[in-house]
Amino acid sequence: MIYKFLVAITLIALHALSVSEAAVMAIDYGTDWFKVALVKPGIPLDIVLNRDSKRKTQAALTIRGEERIYGSDAVNLGARFPLNTYFSVKKVLGRLVDDKIIKDYQSVFPNKIVPDPIRGTVVFQHNETTTFSVEELLAMQFAHAKEQAEAAAQEAIKDVVITVPPYYNQFERQAILDAADLAGLHVLTLINDVTAVGLNYAISRFTSFTEEPQYHMFYDMGAGSTKASLISFKTSNIKDVGRFNKTIINLEVLSVGYDRTLGGQEFDIRLQRYFAEEFDKKFSGKLKSSIFTSERAMTKLYKEANRVKQILSANTDAISSIENLHEDLDFRFPITRSKFEEITADLRKRVSGPINNALSNGKLTLADLQSCVLVGGGVRVPSIQAELKNTVGEEKIAQNVNGDEAAVFGAAFRGAGLSRQFKVKEIKVKDITPYPIEVDYSSEPKKSEDGTSKSKVYHTVLFNEFTAVGTRKMMSFPRTSDFNFSLNYAKLDDEIARDFGPTNIAISKITGLTDAIKQFNDVGVERPKVKVTLQLSESGLVSATDAIVTIEQQSFADKFKSFFKSEESIKDVPLPDETPNSVNASESTPEVNATQTNDTEPIPKLTKIETKNLSIEIEYVGIIPLGENEKVVSIKRLRAMDASDLQRRVREEARNNLEAFVYRVQDFIENNEVILVSTDNQRAELKSKLSETSDWLYEEGEKAETEEFRMRLMSLKLLEQPIAFRREERDKLPGAIFTIKTAINSTRAFIEEIKTNSTAENRYYTDEELNKLLNIVGKVEDWLNEKLVLQEKTPPHFDPILTSIDIENKLKGMEREFLLLPISKPTTTISLETKTKETEQTKSKHDEL
Ligand SMILES: *[C@@H]1O[C@H](CO)[C@@H](O)[C@H](O)[C@H]1NC(C)=O
Ligand SMILES: *[C@@H]1O[C@H](CO)[C@@H](O)[C@H](O)[C@H]1NC(C)=O
Ligand SMILES: *[C@@H]1O[C@H](CO)[C@@H](O)[C@H](O)[C@H]1NC(C)=O
Ligand SMILES: *[C@@H]1O[C@H](CO)[C@@H](O)[C@H](O)[C@H]1NC(C)=O
Ligand SMILES: *[C@@H]1O[C@H](CO)[C@@H](O)[C@H](O)[C@H]1NC(C)=O
Ligand SMILES: *[C@@H]1O[C@H](CO)[C@@H](O)[C@H](O)[C@H]1NC(C)=O
Ligand SMILES: *[C@@H]1O[C@H](CO)[C@@H](O)[C@H](O)[C@H]1NC(C)=O
Ligand SMILES: *[C@@H]1O[C@H](CO)[C@@H](O)[C@H](O)[C@H]1NC(C)=O
Ligand SMILES: *[C@@H]1O[C@H](CO)[C@@H](O)[C@H](O)[C@H]1NC(C)=O
Repeated sequence: MIYKFLVAITLIALHALSVSEAAVMAIDYGTDWFKVALVKPGIPLDIVLNRDSKRKTQAALTIRGEERIYGSDAVNLGARFPLNTYFSVKKVLGRLVDDKIIKDYQSVFPNKIVPDPIRGTVVFQHNETTTFSVEELLAMQFAHAKEQAEAAAQEAIKDVVITVPPYYNQFERQAILDAADLAGLHVLTLINDVTAVGLNYAISRFTSFTEEPQYHMFYDMGAGSTKASLISFKTSNIKDVGRFNKTIINLEVLSVGYDRTLGGQEFDIRLQRYFAEEFDKKFSGKLKSSIFTSERAMTKLYKEANRVKQILSANTDAISSIENLHEDLDFRFPITRSKFEEITADLRKRVSGPINNALSNGKLTLADLQSCVLVGGGVRVPSIQAELKNTVGEEKIAQNVNGDEAAVFGAAFRGAGLSRQFKVKEIKVKDITPYPIEVDYSSEPKKSEDGTSKSKVYHTVLFNEFTAVGTRKMMSFPRTSDFNFSLNYAKLDDEIARDFGPTNIAISKITGLTDAIKQFNDVGVERPKVKVTLQLSESGLVSATDAIVTIEQQSFADKFKSFFKSEESIKDVPLPDETPNSVNASESTPEVNATQTNDTEPIPKLTKIETKNLSIEIEYVGIIPLGENEKVVSIKRLRAMDASDLQRRVREEARNNLEAFVYRVQDFIENNEVILVSTDNQRAELKSKLSETSDWLYEEGEKAETEEFRMRLMSLKLLEQPIAFRREERDKLPGAIFTIKTAINSTRAFIEEIKTNSTAENRYYTDEELNKLLNIVGKVEDWLNEKLVLQEKTPPHFDPILTSIDIENKLKGMEREFLLLPISKPTTTISLETKTKETEQTKSKHDEL
């Protein structure tokens, strides 16, 4: 509650500055669930509810023919259509098909996986003719999230911030970006989910930080993995407009620790396997095949395992019970919490690993920590909580009030900050990459004395582990012809390397250099230097962004002079790679400098400097991103499915509207008040048309098109609406009459008051004006009385002579006349008074009904 309030007051939209008030959404996409939040000018930052009015949606998807079913509906269909229902696709994103993680996935989920022939990534064989890439399945869910947000925002949304686990590498991050692209979303940035939790923490505790850094550990055990981030918070004063300083918060991620495969799901799988073994044991001899061979039964058991785990979080024992589980046999099995703890004991031992790693990577100790904030579904399991309390000490454990939604709120806040449409509290976020990235490069081949050419290979670590993201570096290469270099992950810990995937990212080919050098051949070229800018984006992806060559061109005078110099002195300025013996791979050429440093070098006299842009061609290795052509094909395919889904939804809605109308009106015409305002004939006609429509709905209607439902609804409404209107007026009219009479009385009283009770000095109006008003009031009263007489004589099944709408219009007319008077102050009071009474009156009338 407090949280929402704070956000509400800080997200003040800068209406005047923006023409389009684009909303921004955030998706916290997890292994089991995803959450969506929306920031839009004028409304508070909040979670977007899904179609079932829930705050989170299961990350599951069933595809049947052209129809896609999401969330809990998909989970329910999982056991019926195990091969066409996709769970936890996040686990297999950005991975090669022969990865161990894929094997683990396949041991739990029955879907058929085939390799992408070009990329080697995971593709799901949906049926004999159709396959879906992981990116496509993810894109469908992103598009579904987008639709939810658009329904809440009442406008189209493009901009999004998506959470990813901090351990995601280049390929996994790229796959998320590609999926978002397929979904028609523009990613403002990816944000590490635990960082988003920290950001959310900072927002709600804005005043509790000082210039002295505070260290907090954020521990997130989700369904698929566990992460811990060590984050420092401190304030600093920076210059604001004019002479003012403002205080901002600096959120700095110092280090992370993680366990890629320890998550709530792993506990479910343990339980699922245990149940399956017990089932096989119990019915051994009776079974034709082991339960492990049945996709349906295993999917049912998996769902059951999750349910039982939750019961065991609050109770010491539970009973698992599934009818007709396998080969028509029922499964009923009691289990205790201690048994559950016994079969997951090894998992529990891994609980504290991420915290210990984050601390040692960040070179801090437990004593430095102010608190350890727990989020994620996994931390609700009592034995895990106990383990964590054991690790950091009970007094340091802080349960986040909003643990499940902290990441999506943090991400949305970040989105608001990036979109420039919102004025948000200033929190400077410095996040990091957990993996070192290096540039591998061979120097220009040199002819040696024996005639062979040699080149030296350099491995230069460009971004160390725990380097800040959103950094650019410039690297210079002494080269005279086109060349290439590769971007790779540098040597990783054995443990990290095991589940990492490929470590080669891309080869960057620099072209245009050979040609540029040729142009200067006639005059001679000195010290050509290629400067390449390498970027580690906020989203954590590395790329070479641009390359320029600087050529020092000798003037003729200079060249002339050189004839008198010895060979040696011309080579006085050695190119770094000409002295291979002296180089130290980590600190010599190629040189790496951050762009912010001043790289102006002393320029020898009499030379001219030329710079030229070179082109960079990227060849992806490791895991190749979705190609542009593939994207075009996918987008076309997804849009066709969207269109068909939309068409079906619109038809469904039209059908439901008609059906609901029929039911409602069938009741409606039996109501006594309705009988009063309609004739027998009118009701009979409507009734017969209703029952005809009802019959039609369940026969021909099953196949009818959207338009037909709409037409039928319209023709029914033509009969129903006049009756409904008369029925409604019977309710509204007395209140409206009371309101206008009160308004007439109080206006008269007010005018009388002014006339009799005020002195010449404080008189706001002239007599003439007051009389004019009295005249208007009189006319309104005459009109009312005349209509009332006629209305009295009108039978209730005739359309009324006097309606609440007529009265409302008269009141508005009267109000307008008042507002036209030169001094509006007292009159506004009056008009407001009438308004208030009016609404009160209608309200109380409604309450009575
Ligand atoms: C395969 O699945 C797709 C998508 O659900 C569907 O359009 C197609 O008709 C299916 N093909 C067969 C042979 O079932
Ligand atoms: C603003 O901050 C600077 C340094 O951060 C400090 O020297 C100065 O006194 C501050 N000014 C005000 C008005 O607080
Ligand atoms: C990169 O350059 C080296 C020589 O410098 C060459 O052997 C290699 O084939 C090149 N790689 C690509 C992909 O062009
Ligand atoms: C390179 O530098 C590292 C540390 O900076 C040092 O240990 C190593 O001996 C150096 N190697 C050479 C060949 O200078
Ligand atoms: C860069 O260094 C040169 C020479 O030292 C100096 O003249 C120049 O002002 C510096 N530029 C910047 C932006 O610091
Ligand atoms: C890089 O920075 C160092 C000092 O930090 C400087 O000596 C060197 O000239 C710079 N190199 C380039 C290419 O700017
Ligand atoms: C070189 O690239 C920069 C930045 O990309 C651009 O501003 C500049 O115009 C380019 N110069 C030429 C000669 O193409
Ligand atoms: C309006 O004033 C008349 C006469 O003073 C009174 O009889 C009537 O009850 C008043 N009506 C309302 C709605 O106040
Ligand atoms: C009307 O006049 C009396 C006596 O002067 C005064 O007490 C009363 O407050 C006045 N009423 C209004 C509404 O000004």
